[in-house]
Amino acid sequence: MPGRTTAPLPRAAIAVTPEAIERLVERTSLQLQQMSGVADGGIKRGFVASRLAVEVRLRGEHSLSGLLDRAEGGEAEAQHALRDLLTINYSSFWREPEHWPILAEHLCLRIQARAPLRVWSAACARGEEAWTAALVAAEAASHFVAFDPAWEVLGTDIDTASLDAAIAGRYADEDIGALPERLRSQLLATGSTGAARWDIPADLREHVRFRHLDLARADWQPPAEAPFDAIFLSNVLIYFDRAAQERILQNVAGCLRPEGILFTSRTEGNLGLATRQLKAVGTCTYITARTARRS
Ligand SMILES: C[S@@+](CC[C@H](N)C(=O)[O-])C[C@H]1O[C@@H](n2cnc3c(N)ncnc32)[C@H](O)[C@@H]1O
Repeated sequence: MPGRTTAPLPRAAIAVTPEAIERLVERTSLQLQQMSGVADGGIKRGFVASRLAVEVRLRGEHSLSGLLDRAEGGEAEAQHALRDLLTINYSSFWREPEHWPILAEHLCLRIQARAPLRVWSAACARGEEAWTAALVAAEAASHFVAFDPAWEVLGTDIDTASLDAAIAGRYADEDIGALPERLRSQLLATGSTGAARWDIPADLREHVRFRHLDLARADWQPPAEAPFDAIFLSNVLIYFDRAAQERILQNVAGCLRPEGILFTSRTEGNLGLATRQLKAVGTCTYITARTARRS
């Protein structure tokens, strides 16, 4: 990760002032967007501030302002560091346990209808959600070998370093900890300990693609693969203010096929989704209202 040092500064040495946050969000957002694709406008200041305090320290910076000065001065490493500061990349396999049985059932119904399956992880971080969806889709397809079901998973994210990790597809024990044993056994164990213990097998990779996509861009275009049977839009809307959330939701929900399911996350609450074209079928799972099967 650019700019990260191995010797963090003491917490007291860090200056992430409200003024620096404002400067980051207001004065550099356009510049940042142009240079690295970071979303503008709807960034939540309080959320960003708490994250920045930790990240600035980990990077060995003395202040956010210092980093901003260097970025505005054109230093590429500082610019990349700022881009990374504005995105949180934590994820894990099987992160929201209630999602996956719902996805499995939905995909089985689609296979029975002889439909090719498409799933989109719309802020895929290091690929954990997309690969979990792939494991679930492969398992669903394995119940219908006579149909030879076609399925694909798309993972997109704004952060290119995360996408590189997603494509590499190598994970540590803690990344896959919650994965049920029957799915874990589909991964390739590549060592007994260490950071790259689990690899994604080739037969899964054939079905999964990753690429860059900024959900918040004003000129956002739907992925060419749309419409999707299921979309994961989880733990990303929390970065944005209400207006930006509305815009992103509208865009993403428009990529669902009729009967498609949208998965958000417990941290994001219901987001008012149930009042629109989507109907809640779980605490953070929504189906296009026209054909909702459960309430
Ligand atoms: C906390 S991770 C969520 C990963 C996964 N969806 C999950 O729930 O575990 C948030 C991801 O959103 C991405 N992100 C932030 N802003 C984004 C944007 N404007 N467009 C696309 N992805 C974005 C970050 O880079 C990060 O990888």
